[in-house]
Amino acid sequence: MMSKNSLVQTARLLRHGIQQRSASTLHSKASPAVMPEIQCEMPECDYQSPQYSGPSYEKVLEIRQKHITPNIVPHFKKPLLIHNGHMQWLFDHEGRRYLDMFGGIVTVSVGHCHPKVNRALEKQINTLWHTTNIYLHPKIHEYAERLTAKFPGELKAVCFVNSGSEANDLAMLMARLHTGNQDIITFRNAYHGMSPYTMGLTALSTWRFPLPGVSNGIHHVMNPDPYLGLWGGAACRDSPIQTDRKCDCTSESGCMAGARYYDQLEEVFKYSLPRGRVAAMFAESIQGVGGTVQYPKGYIKKAAELVRANGGVFIADEVQSGFGRTGEHFWGFEGHDFIPDIVTMAKGEFEKA
Ligand SMILES: Cc1ncc(COP(=O)(O)O)c(C=O)c1O
Repeated sequence: MMSKNSLVQTARLLRHGIQQRSASTLHSKASPAVMPEIQCEMPECDYQSPQYSGPSYEKVLEIRQKHITPNIVPHFKKPLLIHNGHMQWLFDHEGRRYLDMFGGIVTVSVGHCHPKVNRALEKQINTLWHTTNIYLHPKIHEYAERLTAKFPGELKAVCFVNSGSEANDLAMLMARLHTGNQDIITFRNAYHGMSPYTMGLTALSTWRFPLPGVSNGIHHVMNPDPYLGLWGGAACRDSPIQTDRKCDCTSESGCMAGARYYDQLEEVFKYSLPRGRVAAMFAESIQGVGGTVQYPKGYIKKAAELVRANGGVFIADEVQSGFGRTGEHFWGFEGHDFIPDIVTMAKGEFEKA
């Protein structure tokens, strides 16, 4: 519980950051897309949402204003009041149906209230609510075995925490303790969380605050983005969506854009990092919050080799790209044809268990 008055100033600062982000043109180099007007109808749905019976819309807004810190900013001038979800559908307080293409910032992986997940939750609620890790519990062991079976190579030990930020916090700590080194590399435009520790990894100005120590030992390198970055052509990334810039790549030379971005990474190693003494490099396998950014083919594999040659470990952040989200592969890093040393994950994880 927090006193609202004492929090208002902090909340204003947080809200200012978030509003700036909404208003910012992060990808200002992109030419504005001309969107064709598309007429489409909602697919049929045989599910009937129960009628909304909670507090009125106005009452919800009033409670929000009085009792919820203002850093949490809903979208839209008239924010949706969602009260029911069923698979891909969401329903508002007036009974309108929406096709959910967002899944709560890609957190709901298998649809809302999926009957199979609901059955498992119900069974557990009626069996045992809480115990502690000073005792054994069968489920965590069964889950660890099934989860690690999904990983290649030596990725066979798992540590459970509560969120993506916590997973990245722990990965930073482990990398630093394991290597005895301090320096960590991430990409500009990366999002790895908002805890005081991971805020340093995150390289989007609107998700950062001027706190002492946040950037301690963290280096943000040029984002290897062949779509909006300095270099990149129509075949540089593994995607049906490509830039219309011409590609200089040939089968002999490989990806030219990838090579140029890699040169930039090497320069940071050459000039900014203690030689042979880095702790880690973090990368989302596909950047999520930064706008679904894919890297040039082959870049990540080479970057991981460079990091390891300098004493560090490579950490794949699969919080958004893991659990089959990229389609062809179960993990996003598999699309880069390499095996990371640590993988962090969260969001729809429990539904897939
Ligand atoms: C790639 C990535 N890493 C880490 C996080 C932080 O996860 P959480 O919000 O569970 O702390 C997020 C959240 O959106 C994310 O997208």
